[in-house]
Parts: sequence; C-alpha cells; structure tokens
Amino acid sequence: MDEEAEYDRIGDRYSEAKQQPFRIHLEAYTLERLAGDVTGARIVDFACGDGFYSRRFMRRGAARTLGIDASHEMVALGRRAEESEPFGCRYAHGDVGDARDLGPFDVAIAAYLLNYARTRTELRRFCEVAFASLRPGGRLLGVNDRTDDPGAGRRDFSQHGFRKIGPARAVEGEPITYEFLLPEGRSFAITNFYWRPETYLDELRAAGFREVAWHPFELAPDGATAYPEGFFDDLLAARPLAAFSAHR
Ligand SMILES: C[S@@+](CC[C@H](N)C(=O)[O-])C[C@H]1O[C@@H](n2cnc3c(N)ncnc32)[C@H](O)[C@@H]1O
Repeated sequence: MDEEAEYDRIGDRYSEAKQQPFRIHLEAYTLERLAGDVTGARIVDFACGDGFYSRRFMRRGAARTLGIDASHEMVALGRRAEESEPFGCRYAHGDVGDARDLGPFDVAIAAYLLNYARTRTELRRFCEVAFASLRPGGRLLGVNDRTDDPGAGRRDFSQHGFRKIGPARAVEGEPITYEFLLPEGRSFAITNFYWRPETYLDELRAAGFREVAWHPFELAPDGATAYPEGFFDDLLAARPLAAFSAHR
C-alpha cells in the first residue's frame, strides 16, 4: 500500500495520536526549540499531514505556511481545521519528490518525511527538493525515525502510545512498523523504511546542505512537571525518534 492510501485510511486516528504526551513534550518541544524565533518566517511543511506543525508555527508567529502532503485525507483534515480555526495555513496535495519551483522559504519542516523514502534515490530527491525550496541561509528542520539498533525487533513504548517493530534485518530500505495505541483498545499501524542515521546525513550533505546534525529529543519543562518523575525516561534513553537540522 502506498503512503497516500495508508494515510487516507487512518487520517483521523493519526491526528488523535498526535496528541500523545510525547508528541507535545518531546517531539514538538525539540523541533520548535531548534526552530527558535520564527516570527515573520515563510515556512514550507513537507509531509504536513493534518497541518499539526503548520498550525503550531503560525501560532508562533510565522508569516505563512505551505503544507504539502501526498494524502488527500490528510490535506482535507488540514483544510477542515483551517476552516474551524483559521490561521492562514495553506495546503497542497502532492508528492514531495515531484515538487518544483517552491519558495523561497526561510524554513522547511520535514516531520517524518525522510523515513518514507523507499530508495536511496528517493531519499536524495526529498533532500534536493528541500534544499531547492530554501533561500540561502534557510534551514531544514525535522523529526524522523532514528534507528541505531536495527534488528533489535520490537520496542515497546506502550506507556507512550506506540510500539516500534523492525527492521527485521539491518538492511537499508527494510520496513519499520509503528503501531499506535489509542484509547478503548483502538490502534493503527504505519510503515516507514530503515536508513542508517549516517545515511540521512550523507544524503542531506549530497543535496548541498551543511551543518547537518541529529538532535536527541529533549523534555519540555512543563512536560517534566505535568507527568510523574521518570515518565519519559525510557523514550529519552532509547531514542527511537530524533530531530535533525541542516542549513542551506
Ligand atoms: C507520520 S505522518 C507526519 C505528518 C506530519 N508531518 C506530522 O508530524 O504530524 C507522515 C505524512 O507523510 C506523508 N507522506 C509520505 N510520503 C510522502 C511524500 N512522498 N510526499 C508527500 N507526503 C508524504 C503522509 O501522507 C503522511 O501524512
């Protein structure tokens, strides 16, 4: 099944899973801290999903956002959210790999785009599109699968609402399944593809980016006080996901 069909099926449940505490207090906190002051920034949100980050960056003072996603359903969710609470976010349906003549933008966001590359060529293409969309000095910021222990099987983070399964072999391009657990026993799964952490950085550099780096998730101060001590420790230690940054 391709990504479009996968997300067309699970769109609303994915949006629900985006409210899990680790999303807010680790993922969004880390990404937004990396972004710093975005007042007046022009932002492109690659693989925007339902516009979770587009809305958050508009709230933080961005001048405009353009979200691009391959799933009609995810784009529709973003547009619906925009109708009920207008922020000025714009959305377009399409494959990031096919995007041409975008921008220039000050910041590009790639929240779980790169781990959708099925081939190294596609991974390079995503990086090239991001590079071309930015003005000189612009920044690409993202969050992504980060697998340091391929072949370790099933990692259970059910306390945080997900499990990570695979890759079955330490071979790049192998599938990784994320199973998300929702209230009332509901769940859904998505499939990413395994690339070594260094491969991501190599492809970003090959596309022209400099100062490319991974950043472990950090815990927001309000997250630390809102949950019992140690609640996020397993995720912070195992680091199944991480943020990254790159400069044009
Ligand atoms: C895990 S979701 C992340 C959504 C959003 N960035 C977020 O953080 O909430 C991944 C999204 O990537 C989109 N996607 C996957 N491959 C894509 C591609 N080649 N071009 C555009 N969107 C893609 C899917 O449709 C899905 O909405």
